[in-house]
Amino acid sequence: MKYMGGNNIAIDAGRGVFQVARRAFTSEAILQAEREEIFDRCWIYLGHESEVRAPGAFVARSVAGRDVIFNRDAKGVVHAFLDSCPHRGAKLCQERQGIAKNFQCIYHGWVFSADGKFRRQPHHAAYPADFECTGAVDLVAVPRLESYRGLWFVCFDKDAVSLHDYLGGAREYIDCMADQADELEIISGSQEYMIRANWKLLCENSFDGYHADNLHATYFDYVRNVTPNAPKNGPPPKLEGVSRELGNGHAVVEFSAPWGRPAGKWSPAWGEQSRAEMDGIYGKLQSRLGEERARRISHMNRNLVVFPNLVIVDAAGLVIRTMYPDEPGRMSVSSWAVAPKDESAWLRKIRLRNFLEFLGPGGLATPDDIEALERCQRGYRNIKEAGWNDVSKGALDSAELPMEDEGQIRAFWRQWGVRMDGRAGPADPPPPGARQ
Ligand code: FES
Ligand SMILES: [Fe+2]
Repeated sequence: MKYMGGNNIAIDAGRGVFQVARRAFTSEAILQAEREEIFDRCWIYLGHESEVRAPGAFVARSVAGRDVIFNRDAKGVVHAFLDSCPHRGAKLCQERQGIAKNFQCIYHGWVFSADGKFRRQPHHAAYPADFECTGAVDLVAVPRLESYRGLWFVCFDKDAVSLHDYLGGAREYIDCMADQADELEIISGSQEYMIRANWKLLCENSFDGYHADNLHATYFDYVRNVTPNAPKNGPPPKLEGVSRELGNGHAVVEFSAPWGRPAGKWSPAWGEQSRAEMDGIYGKLQSRLGEERARRISHMNRNLVVFPNLVIVDAAGLVIRTMYPDEPGRMSVSSWAVAPKDESAWLRKIRLRNFLEFLGPGGLATPDDIEALERCQRGYRNIKEAGWNDVSKGALDSAELPMEDEGQIRAFWRQWGVRMDGRAGPADPPPPGARQ
């Protein structure tokens, strides 16, 4: 038996058993350690380039426990500043997004330009003459800000590896998203919701290939009922695919599914009249990327988790999702729909309908997931008598497994374990096999 992650992960390789202590979902001390070892050290998704396309465009967003301003200055340079006035700390942005040449603090009225430089303050007279030249009065930039294929990330550890190296094998799957069109954009607006469950339960769930036909049976019935000529009875359609570990805790499931994809896979449910447009989208991909890659990008679905908390759902729509812990038993989730900038109104509607119907917090699948995760969290009230979760499905060491196994979830946990190893866990964990 090998323990890692501050004794919160127990691996019995010989028996093919992988278990996670339920205190990892309930402990305040573990959450604090996660903030320090994971959210303060990993590359964390900030936003998409399309959100700050115009000079002066800004987005105010909560990232890894900080308020951050993500913006583009008048010269076109992208920045990420702490959304906190250098004077006494007040949060600067009132609006969640917009266009701003300057940011003015509501408290004493200090003004900063979009490149973060201090501009002026009321009652200048009593300050030293060189007051504004010290740099100490400018907005504070995040320690690291880098981008890959239109996705901007921040890192609060100035010594971290480059984003390129951090993403590693996940880059190829981000490419599968970015290659879908000449230019992608975030569709204005987002879904914001809270789940009474630990944030890691949604990381697991976002690419859990084991639960869909059981938990989402209603959704599959619905797909069958709206698809002409689909058999109305019989087993739910099978999602066929594999999971892959991508290094640094990132992992993906890539699979085929019965639904259409706005990326170029037509569905009979959309009607014959839409077929030519979808063939056109596919044809464009084919001439740009070749048959093999076009087919993979348009026909295959991918749920990617970039450790620790970025999810890209590239399925019946294209969605970016993040989740942050508020408390051990509560998380906040944000989701954005992504689409080609030049998409037709008809296809945009299909895409947004899916964003609402399948993935939305009022849709046909996400509420199932939320209910399941909240039940898990509730189940952890029995932690003293039953302290361990099981994540053993599938052989432990294979690089590629069927998606219904749990290899991708173990990849997440192993990285969690590496990051948390320096933190002392309970000295003598009970043997997980005994479920004590
Ligand atoms: S706190 Fe911002 S100007 Fe004083
Ligand atoms: Fe689900």
